[in-house]
Amino acid sequence: MQKVLILDFGGQYNQLIARRVREQKVYCEVHPHDMPLEEIRRFDPIGVIFTGGPGSVYLPDAPKVDPGVFELGVPILGICYGCQLMAQMLGGRVTAAQDDSAREYGKTPTALDGGCALFAGLGGESVTWMSHGDYMAAVPAGFRLAAHSAACPTAAICDEARGFYGVQFHPEVEHTERGRGMLRNFLYGICRAAGDWTMADYKAQAIEAVREKVGNGRALLALSGGVDSSVAAALMSEAIGERLVCVFVDHGLMRRNEGDEVEAAFSKRELNFIRVNAQERFLSRLAGVEEPERKRKIIGEEFIRVFEEVAHEVGAVDFLVQGTIYPDVIESGQGEAAVIKSHHNVGGLPDCVDFREILEPLRLLFKDEVRQLGRELGLPEALVSRQPFPGPGLAIRVIGAVTKEKLDTLREADAIFREEMSRAGIAADQYFAALTNLRSVGVMGDGRSYDRAIALRSVQTGDFMTADFSRLPWELLETVSVRIVNEVRGVNRVLYDITSKPPATVEYE
Ligand code: XMP
Repeated sequence: MQKVLILDFGGQYNQLIARRVREQKVYCEVHPHDMPLEEIRRFDPIGVIFTGGPGSVYLPDAPKVDPGVFELGVPILGICYGCQLMAQMLGGRVTAAQDDSAREYGKTPTALDGGCALFAGLGGESVTWMSHGDYMAAVPAGFRLAAHSAACPTAAICDEARGFYGVQFHPEVEHTERGRGMLRNFLYGICRAAGDWTMADYKAQAIEAVREKVGNGRALLALSGGVDSSVAAALMSEAIGERLVCVFVDHGLMRRNEGDEVEAAFSKRELNFIRVNAQERFLSRLAGVEEPERKRKIIGEEFIRVFEEVAHEVGAVDFLVQGTIYPDVIESGQGEAAVIKSHHNVGGLPDCVDFREILEPLRLLFKDEVRQLGRELGLPEALVSRQPFPGPGLAIRVIGAVTKEKLDTLREADAIFREEMSRAGIAADQYFAALTNLRSVGVMGDGRSYDRAIALRSVQTGDFMTADFSRLPWELLETVSVRIVNEVRGVNRVLYDITSKPPATVEYE
């Protein structure tokens, strides 16, 4: 399989570059900019992309790349900071834009030279997304100009003899109108990619790799019924068969019938499926706890305790399998971000149990690739295309202290909402009900009620880092509201959440 190497200089859009490359059926990996030359050689890329980054190439501690990368004989595409770095390292000059007019941020009309292989078939005036305060004042020997904007004469450069291309703008961002075409030209026209990245091949390779690693050993996997752990289970099962044990901890914070559905979906497969009913245990640890972060911590810890106990009962297990996916891998390589919520999922499992090693068979895949792999492995579509469900489950959708009665109320309301959404055929990325801690007065029949309020939440999002509330049809909201108030005891009011993220988050706690 051919590989493209993406060297990371700390830009905001680095994951997006990787996704755009893989979208075009070319495999790529993101590695730190200081990857040693020997490793780059071993990686054996058909092309290299330098990402953008927040630094300035002329500052003393600016991130650099081993200059040997320019001698490998493979094409290089530098994006923004990556373009400036290439220019500077090959003898050009980069400076801070002297006056504000030379800085460019946002959508910028740019003239592209269709004679440059990067812009073949894309020449002429077009909008690109710029975000730079520095610019190339002098282009290195051997390069020529390939694009310009009103403020920047050096919007793109190329040295076609050596296969080096640099763009000041971001082709990976949607706002760059012909960005996909440019990346396609780089991959297919310049790097001569064959487009050989397919899930069927990946599946075969991943199974082979697991077999080689595990040998005759046994592996334990925490199965939540979510997409990642389910796909990991299916892959592991195909690789090592009955030497896989899957543990499903039912913490009683699942949606209606979910525990039974997970059991039904997985106990028939040969997964040595173990269901642990730990509902009482979780509820008693959560009794009276209102603070969201404490709830999350308690659930995370209790999960680990239960899991450890089962692991000891099962005994003699060599490997622990985690459903880590590529965005987690890329993100964990970067600086500290503020903790908004401490995420708990079955991926955050113990170092405290005795395992020889941790296996992460999905660690190179993006979410949509995980779903595709699930289809390749024959998992049902309903499972593969599930919306995300947080590790702490309904505990963070019951605002304030959690009780069995409140969970039951929420489960009923949530099931109605989900049922009506699917009946109406509405495609939202995530939608659910939450039980607020608001009580309010209503009138039912001829009497006064003083009952709870349910909040409905539905969002459209690509990456869950930001999200827009869904503009659901009034008729649908009305049906859901009428059904919830009529069918769910103790609820007399239904609210629809019209806040986006930011400033709100998707979940309430
Ligand atoms: P927030 O509420 O942070 O949610 O906007 C973003 C996405 O993450 C999911 N989420 C979690 N997933 N463990 C998970 O596996 C968690 O602890 C957790 N908390 C939030 C949330 O459902 C949404 O999809």
